[in-house]
Amino acid sequence: MESTRNKLIHLLSVSNDIFISGQEISDKLNISRSAIWKHMKELEKDGYIIEAIRNKGYRIVDAPKKVSQNTIQWGLNTEWLGKTIYHKETTTSTQHIAHQLAQVNSAHGTVVIADEQTAGKGRLSRQWHSAKQQGIWLSMIIRPNILPHLAPQLTLLTATVLADVLKHELKLDPKIKWPNDIIMDDKKIAGILTEMQAEQDQIQYIVIGMGINVNQQQIDLPADIQDKATSISIVSEKKWDITNLIQLILVQFEETYAAYMRKGFSVIKEKWERYGYRIGEITRIKTHKEVNEIKIIGIAEDGALLAESLDGKVSKVYSGEIDWFDKGSF
Ligand code: BTN
Repeated sequence: MESTRNKLIHLLSVSNDIFISGQEISDKLNISRSAIWKHMKELEKDGYIIEAIRNKGYRIVDAPKKVSQNTIQWGLNTEWLGKTIYHKETTTSTQHIAHQLAQVNSAHGTVVIADEQTAGKGRLSRQWHSAKQQGIWLSMIIRPNILPHLAPQLTLLTATVLADVLKHELKLDPKIKWPNDIIMDDKKIAGILTEMQAEQDQIQYIVIGMGINVNQQQIDLPADIQDKATSISIVSEKKWDITNLIQLILVQFEETYAAYMRKGFSVIKEKWERYGYRIGEITRIKTHKEVNEIKIIGIAEDGALLAESLDGKVSKVYSGEIDWFDKGSF
């Protein structure tokens, strides 16, 4: 059950910058005026800045920087995404928790986030390094009304969401390396892991996990990936507010998802191809252990990579089948 404290924060968050009177809080939460006062003092101890004006009421002026369910929801401008958030200081993998929650019917848009993962999962059973408070380790439960074979489109959609936030909000220059790596300065900054539970022709739920390196410095990255990985902080030479970044991602995801549901995959495909790493270039990829020279020309409706061989033949390459020949993937 949601605590009175969380309800109070939610009430003040929803009213955004507007004062909310003691009477209204008391009626809505069924608590006394003196209890409200005590709760406000507790919130201040946790780093919330609260303005209290006689005859007007209360408003939150600023929330602490620490990531929590409350700080993410404070001022979060979404309709369905992140209405329920589970925040863990440490966990094995937010993917595991999201699956458990989805199986007991947690709502579309439920978000699980951790400060640290001890068994973070990457694609192809790789390990995902998820150091404490240095990145965004987040999974969301989505229940889309689309056919199961279209699910890979949501991975591509998520990649465009991350690229859009990095480009338009942080003013950086991200690329998307097929199928799901976000690249800056030729190094990986973020990855996406999509896992689905479905029947023949119906999706029960999808868990979309994203791992984003945010505030690591070069020395914080594990030795085995130092030459292939980077962080937002390394490329921008700044520290970033993780809570604020999460909010930007959730808002952008909801907006992009709505456009996809309304207009279909073409909007995503177009955007993805604009961000596509090495699109139009001749590159070398390894498929079934053999190295081929191909030109990447885009992506197909089913999420496959469209590759043109040197004799002009266009073929589809599916996820898991290729290894980029140069820098490698992880
Ligand atoms: C990849 O590029 O291989 C995908 C990495 C996905 C990592 C994220 S972090 C949050 C969520 N929880 C996990 O255990 N994995 C995903």
